[in-house]
Amino acid sequence: MLTGAFVAFGHFLAFFALAVALTLELALIAESMSVEVAKRIQRADRVAGLSAVLLLLFGSLRALFFEKGADYYLDNHFFQIKIGLFLLAALASAYPTICFRRWSSELAQGIAPGLSATEVTRVKRAIHWELVFIGGILICASLMAKGFGS
Ligand code: HEM
Repeated sequence: MLTGAFVAFGHFLAFFALAVALTLELALIAESMSVEVAKRIQRADRVAGLSAVLLLLFGSLRALFFEKGADYYLDNHFFQIKIGLFLLAALASAYPTICFRRWSSELAQGIAPGLSATEVTRVKRAIHWELVFIGGILICASLMAKGFGS
């Protein structure tokens, strides 16, 4: 069905946007950044958040109304692991997001935010974990789609 194809496309597109946004955050974060770079990181984080919401939305639509039916997925071990990894990725995203949001008042006054080396390391580590969890999600998605884990 064409609608199902577009929902699947939305799922892939949201994944692509999330991966690009996280990679951008990883590349831009540093101890000293210009106001412009800090704002770009905040924007990338908003894109990452929106993409995660869309992944959940399109994924739920696929599981409930398209593909193999809700019962198949709810009973599938790789689907359960996939959702668990999705929640872990959401947890890992909390620290960077809180850190980036803290800059807002400084940025509004045109002040560039300064980060300690420890904070940069923590933010980078959290984003790396998000990417590791997303890698695990991809393996689980492929396995569940091909009938494993039922
Ligand atoms: C970071 C999060 C996610 C990523 C990277 C991701 C990735 C993928 C990928 C690559 C596929 C295609 C698998 C294939 O055809 O080989 C897929 C399929 C699917 N995903 Fe996700 N997904 C994510 C989150 C979710 C969530 C939260 C749900 C449900 C609430 C979900 C439900 C589904 C469903 C139902 C399919 C169709 C599987 C099939 O063809 O039988 N996904 N996902």
